[in-house]
Amino acid sequence: MPRHALAPVLFLLGSLALTGACSTGSSPADSAPSPDNPSRTRGNDTGTQVDLTKLKGVSIVSDSSTDRSCPWATSYPDVPGADTMTAAMKKDVGERLEVFLGEDTDSQATGCGGMDGLEGPELNVSFSFLVASSDVLGVRLTTLDRTSNADGVGTEAYWYDGAAKRYRPSPGLIADGSRDAFVAAVKKRLEKREGVTPETVTALDDPDAYLDDMAFTADGDLKVDFDRGTVGVPPAGRISVTLPEATVTPWLSDFGTRAQRQTTAPDDKLDLGAAHTPAPTVAAQPDPGEDPTDCSKVKCIALTFDDGPAAPETGTLLKYLAQYKARATFFVVGQNVATHPDIVRAEVQSGHEIANHSWNHPVLTNLTPTQIRSQLERTNAAIKDATGKEPTLFRPPYGAMDDRVKAATSLSPALWDVDTLDWKSHDPAKVAQTVISQAEPNDVVLVHDIHPTSVAAIPEVLRTLTARGYHFVTVSHLRATL
Ligand code: NI
Repeated sequence: MPRHALAPVLFLLGSLALTGACSTGSSPADSAPSPDNPSRTRGNDTGTQVDLTKLKGVSIVSDSSTDRSCPWATSYPDVPGADTMTAAMKKDVGERLEVFLGEDTDSQATGCGGMDGLEGPELNVSFSFLVASSDVLGVRLTTLDRTSNADGVGTEAYWYDGAAKRYRPSPGLIADGSRDAFVAAVKKRLEKREGVTPETVTALDDPDAYLDDMAFTADGDLKVDFDRGTVGVPPAGRISVTLPEATVTPWLSDFGTRAQRQTTAPDDKLDLGAAHTPAPTVAAQPDPGEDPTDCSKVKCIALTFDDGPAAPETGTLLKYLAQYKARATFFVVGQNVATHPDIVRAEVQSGHEIANHSWNHPVLTNLTPTQIRSQLERTNAAIKDATGKEPTLFRPPYGAMDDRVKAATSLSPALWDVDTLDWKSHDPAKVAQTVISQAEPNDVVLVHDIHPTSVAAIPEVLRTLTARGYHFVTVSHLRATL
């Protein structure tokens, strides 16, 4: 999204509840598993399918707050070999967070702090894979910033060219010599649209800023997506232009031609030239059967780990937990489950409980009932794909819940008693000390296994609280035996 689209225009906020529909919801097709690869093939916003098993060694970079007055959650994939593209996403996500938090001095945005008295500031950055095939990787980031103008929704497509070992912003799909013809064709199609005026189309004179979301459809057509207010008047909403395959093909760059081919006829592997080190396997707990701990007779603690699974942090955590025969509950985010089903399986095999923490960590109370259901059902389906079992608990991101959220699901809500604020301190000693000093019998403790510093705090927690006679159980076990 172009930087200036983030300037605050608060009077537009009233429209956000409606327009959030295209960002955080998902079409039924998104969650429909493909028949030939039920667990690892995922649809994206362009309607094409990507086989995630080809993404060897991928890790999801996630971060979030638990601050309900300024909720934010960001995630983007780090695919080995595509380091320059990862760096571009990291930079963009970092800038969006700075603007949201009001820490960007160049921006006029006051961020969360300037939202006092107004409902619902929120930043959410989520990802989907567009292509992961041969030497082509395409990722779309979707940003929802409820403090920004436009509709707060911005999308951007990032491309990586494994043959040239280069990150390619979307305009790189078009050959340099054909750029003018391509832009003219896009303009021509835009001019027929309602809400588009000659003045608004002049934005395209700066294609690098505005042509930031281009991707191919399954038929090889090129779809160009514009954030609200960038090429039309804001009430016209998000606008997209699709150039037919026959029209656009002669204008494609060498990379664009390969990206088109890998979208329409994907190869059976992705090779970006990076060596892949397989993740170490996680040992199952000696006794993953029924936990005999009776929390009405002994002191229990339910450690809960949110926002994962994450590689390699979750695997390290599982080893620590196994050393103390401790059980825990993992509140997983659906988009990470789809990327790392093997880790979720390892969690189950190690005797832990899996629970639902939404698909991409939005404030559920800002969504429509349909969107809330989609967030939870899509994640349930991903968990079932990975483990064969649906969860029974959910934790609303930020603990934000109302009657509509409760009515949208049969899952039982599970909040927490102790918040380690680990996302803020990133300090293992502080995280361990918070748990040790604050936790009381039968408390539920909130930690995030996406942060190495949080995982590093766990051995000290397990050692100290075990010595004090505590037993580490799952949330469902705690509830069942109290
Ligand atoms: Ni969370």
